[in-house]
Amino acid sequence: MEYDRLLRELQGLEAAHPHLLTPDSPTQRVGAAPLEDFAQVVHDVPMLSLNNAFSEDEVAAFDRRAREGLEREGDQLEYAVEPKFDGLAITLRYKHGVFVRGATRGDGTTGEDVTANLRTIRAIPLRLETDAPPALLEVRGEVLMLRRDFDRLNQEARERGEKAFANPRNAAAGSLRQLDPRITARRHLHFFAYGTAGIEGVKLPATHSATMDWLAALRLPVARQRDVVSGVAGLMAYFNELGTLRAGLPFDIDGAVYKLNLLADQERLGFVARAPRFAIAHKYPAQEELTVVEAIEVQVGRTGVLTPVARLQPVFVGGVTVTNATLHNEDEVRRRDVRVGDTVIVRRAGDVIPEVVASLPERRPLRDLASPLHGPFVMPTACPVCGAPVQRLDGETATRCSNTLECPAQRKQAILHFASRRAMDIEGLGDKLVEQLVDTGLVRTPADLYTLQTEQIAGLERMARKSAENLKSGIEASRRRPLARFIFALGIRQVGEQTAKDLARHFGKLDELAAADDAALRQVADVGPVVAASITAFFLESHNRDVIEALRRAEAWVDGEARAAAPARFAGKTFVLTGTLPNLSRDQAKAMIEAVGGKAAGSVSGKTDYVVAGAEAGSKLAKAQQLNLRILDESGFLQLLDQGDSPS
Ligand code: IVH
Repeated sequence: MEYDRLLRELQGLEAAHPHLLTPDSPTQRVGAAPLEDFAQVVHDVPMLSLNNAFSEDEVAAFDRRAREGLEREGDQLEYAVEPKFDGLAITLRYKHGVFVRGATRGDGTTGEDVTANLRTIRAIPLRLETDAPPALLEVRGEVLMLRRDFDRLNQEARERGEKAFANPRNAAAGSLRQLDPRITARRHLHFFAYGTAGIEGVKLPATHSATMDWLAALRLPVARQRDVVSGVAGLMAYFNELGTLRAGLPFDIDGAVYKLNLLADQERLGFVARAPRFAIAHKYPAQEELTVVEAIEVQVGRTGVLTPVARLQPVFVGGVTVTNATLHNEDEVRRRDVRVGDTVIVRRAGDVIPEVVASLPERRPLRDLASPLHGPFVMPTACPVCGAPVQRLDGETATRCSNTLECPAQRKQAILHFASRRAMDIEGLGDKLVEQLVDTGLVRTPADLYTLQTEQIAGLERMARKSAENLKSGIEASRRRPLARFIFALGIRQVGEQTAKDLARHFGKLDELAAADDAALRQVADVGPVVAASITAFFLESHNRDVIEALRRAEAWVDGEARAAAPARFAGKTFVLTGTLPNLSRDQAKAMIEAVGGKAAGSVSGKTDYVVAGAEAGSKLAKAQQLNLRILDESGFLQLLDQGDSPS
């Protein structure tokens, strides 16, 4: 890379002519020799904290106090608004435009001199971009780690068998407080400025927003998601908008910060105790909280996989109350060393399933750790539902119950899957009902659903007559589903919705599919040895054949025509749809592609044959152009399907 080459050249020059070495030289970013200890820095202007608001009422109260303090009760105040970065506060000192010292917040009055480490952060300019630098400028901001750098760091730590960091904030803190700057340099920290604290020789603009623009012009990174709004309505609109962006931002934020925009107003309001009156942090519900593991239970899924789940003391996190969190599998529990009684960090971000990020062993109660109750987690050797032995195959992380046919947990999951919306779509059949139906013995396999009588359903506990009738009609309505849905509903391992469609189109009839050998199955696009083996094993199983015969008597599905040979023109061709087409909906276009034997894929790659792009096509189109793929608009696409060749 150009940068690296120039850097090496500069290092050579500086080694030969040490008097030319300046503190703002890019070579100083690489990481100086380790320190014994950090020196203390007394902040000229203390580093205070912000008061928090957790609701619109609290934001309104803050705004009311500000209006009262400024004696402008009837006005709408103007606020500069910005993200609240979830990192560590630091202060940077620039003398005549050159970075000379940086420190952590510490206790607010005295921090630690981390200059050598801050020098390794590329986002922090070693020299300000201006011909007229202030004699002194103290910049306040936040050091953080971008999520992608955090993911990479943890990935590497795991590969080395080391402990991962719980979140980007901890990783940033651990990286900044390294006595060896060479380690900091490898961690790729980032920085955002959010204010100043002391300036000499240059006058600041009149507003906070203009100050931020000025800092940006000096090449100090500032958040792009800044704005200026007025009144509580403006603050709330910003808060909600930032909230929708939150999950997609490259870094973690934990709220929005509102600051009176006029610096003169800020000064007039001043501070109370340790926080300003002119600013407030409006927090989002925390995405991470501490709670205690009450038990670790093991659940059995549709394919028999045993999943350890932590039962937690209820905790409000990510906007909901969480009582369980997945621990994924045996290896993950061990890696995190989560034990019953432990205090753990629980995370729920966006719509993601809550998970236990880390256990805090330092908070582990002192007790008999040798007792099986409090020792390290061990996977049971027998299925917790049916008692059959479990197995964990070499090279797999999953532990499975071996009793695939009779284990009630697996049967329940199989029935739920059979009835699910994208499978047979049986309305009214949820998990509670399936539980009851299986536990009472009324239903053992999906085929039993079709012989259920309304009376039997109505006889279940807490079941109203009307609900029983609804379920009965939901089941009736699910007869004679198309073959593709039925194949998907069977829950054959490795056979997802798309493969089920491909198989249905290729074989046309269920009996053809059931009779197909490995070679015949491999004729279908995307069916490889693993999928083929799973399908043949499924149909060899006599229990499965019995269930299918019962489903045949129930007329659960209708066969179609094999359409493998006819549309050979586009067999094996992959299309990607992107943007909005003028006339065709995405589903229509997809159906047309499938009708001629092609496949509609979600992402562009070297294996893509055609990209059909409509209005507002974004990154997929760009990638297609980059890869020099065939790109068609709607009419080109229709012409292609009609003629079997693309227009020039
Ligand atoms: S302004 C007088 N703006 O939040 C206080 N702080 O509780 C000035 N923080 O430790 C702080 N993003 O590190 C401000 N856009 C932002 C911020 C921000 C994060 C942190 C800051 C401080 C804490 C305040």
